[in-house]
Amino acid sequence: MSIVSRAGNGKVTVPDILSRKNQPSPQSQAIGGTPPRKITCLTAYDYSTARLLDEAGVDILLVGDSLAMVVLGYENTLPVTLEEMLHHTRAARRGARRALLVADMPYGSFHGELTDSVRNAVRFVKEAGAEAVKIEGGERRLDLIHRLVEAEIPVMGHIGLTPQSVHSLGGFRVQGKTSAAAEQLLRDAHAVEAAGAFSVVLEAIPRELAAQITRELRIPTIGIGAGPDCDGQVLVIHDLLGLSFGIAPKFARRYSDLRESITRAVTEFCADVESGKFPSDAESYHLPTDARERPAPRRR
Ligand code: KIV
Repeated sequence: MSIVSRAGNGKVTVPDILSRKNQPSPQSQAIGGTPPRKITCLTAYDYSTARLLDEAGVDILLVGDSLAMVVLGYENTLPVTLEEMLHHTRAARRGARRALLVADMPYGSFHGELTDSVRNAVRFVKEAGAEAVKIEGGERRLDLIHRLVEAEIPVMGHIGLTPQSVHSLGGFRVQGKTSAAAEQLLRDAHAVEAAGAFSVVLEAIPRELAAQITRELRIPTIGIGAGPDCDGQVLVIHDLLGLSFGIAPKFARRYSDLRESITRAVTEFCADVESGKFPSDAESYHLPTDARERPAPRRR
């Protein structure tokens, strides 16, 4: 039995995402053709969040390895394991109906032999219900992306600031600011496309460079800190909802302040319990009326 809904009922598929590439031909521009709708992508790491985001109409749910930081409390994304990522992907799978479910391959799960990397990626599809995997890295991942695509696993690339390279990059820094670095990123983007990826995340790069990559590629670009000209945008859900700790990067627009709401609700609950206001009589179960009149049986 398939756990993925059938296509044709609004289900977002890999071909749908590819068809959302903004490739205005001179003819369509001349007749004022409207560009395709931008792609929306958010991270989700559990059933209830995945379900809420899916029902709100998000196109792609990414079980990002950012869960290492925002859910598991690590300093960076490196410690999260393959088994933990599989566990969270299964949970998100149960909540996702319409959106395309993409799982992030964690650090260490695709850095060894190609056959081991393919086996690990297969586990996301076979055991956890992912419809695609995301791989950090550009030119260096050409062979791997090619092998995964051959194994029928759609791949989302990820270039620019790749958090799994935090040590070699010397921190979480904007990438592609020199002309040599920008040229390398262009090569990375083209390599990811040539290897067969269906989309590529551009993280923390100058908007002008993201716009150029977006113009040059035939696959959609999905930006995070890469400006408004990408074919889609992705954010970490904890940043969007105001649930993260620490200083958020400037691109992480906060649409809600759930930390404040949670703190207020929990403080009120504690005060109500302590003052005896919670639970009320209406929130209590009662004996049937006739039993209430009978004396309670004595304990021996
Ligand atoms: O892990 C993650 O959440 C990501 C997105 C920020 C693109 O890689």
